[in-house]
Amino acid sequence: MSEPNEHDDYLLGVNQRELERLQFQHSVWGPVTRKFLARLNVGKGWRCLDVGAGPGLVSIDLRELVGATGEVTALDPSQFYLEWLGRQASDNGWTNVKCVQGSAESAVLPSRSYDLIFVRWVIAFVPDPEKFLLPLFNALRTGGVVAVQDYYYEGLSLFPHGGICDTMPDIVRAYYRSGGGDAYVAGKIPAIFRKHGLDLTDFTPTRLSGGPTSGVMEWAHRFFSLHIPLMADKGVILPGQADALMADWETHRQNPDTLFFSPLVVDVAGVSRR
Ligand SMILES: C[S@@+](CC[C@H](N)C(=O)[O-])C[C@H]1O[C@@H](n2cnc3c(N)ncnc32)[C@H](O)[C@@H]1O
Repeated sequence: MSEPNEHDDYLLGVNQRELERLQFQHSVWGPVTRKFLARLNVGKGWRCLDVGAGPGLVSIDLRELVGATGEVTALDPSQFYLEWLGRQASDNGWTNVKCVQGSAESAVLPSRSYDLIFVRWVIAFVPDPEKFLLPLFNALRTGGVVAVQDYYYEGLSLFPHGGICDTMPDIVRAYYRSGGGDAYVAGKIPAIFRKHGLDLTDFTPTRLSGGPTSGVMEWAHRFFSLHIPLMADKGVILPGQADALMADWETHRQNPDTLFFSPLVVDVAGVSRR
């Protein structure tokens, strides 16, 4: 197995704990993704590309939908994640999943080939979303779909109000900017689609909410407890701020009447007419 943390320029890093966070994230948000895939009518025989697949959690859902006559290619820069997916494929005898190591901007992709290109929680990390998406548009057959699930980072909220966690949305947005990304990226996608000849067919925001024992609050906990210390390491916040944020977060977690509201995650789909 390759050593984790080999993909150092990517903001969230690549390691076993982050892989487990992604798995838990998929247990919370997978139903939202699967509803999106159902609206896209993904069917048997489709050729799909999962870009920034990580350990391929969406690829695994896609492979069931496309069946033995279809194919899913997981593209990611991380050898660590792709080796994990490769092991799942060989352990389970899946023949319709392929792994390709590379980035969206530089991978050599077949032209006019895919029925669906899916991109979940990747474009918010990249400095130039249009440069990221252009090679993907060229890899889409006429009538094929590019589907993006990503943040429009509004709506994150913790009740009762009044603690330092009220500043969390600004802090997370600054964290994304510190890595060259943009946590409002979902808002930019429709204009890029229009410029490059794709018709916008879906723009659906989802916001999950729940109390301290809910999956969505545990999802937020796993992100904050892993990344707030890293935000301090990277100078996005001061070490004292990190301690105060974690203390306020813990106070809310201990209060059975707390309510957590997630930021907006938007399903954005465009159909190619090129
Ligand atoms: C937050 S993870 C999301 C993984 C997966 N899409 C999911 O929803 O579970 C972001 C992934 O994007 C990958 N990534 C970052 N920059 C990329 C780029 N320029 N091209 C392709 N993938 C990239 C990272 O290696 C990481 O696996």
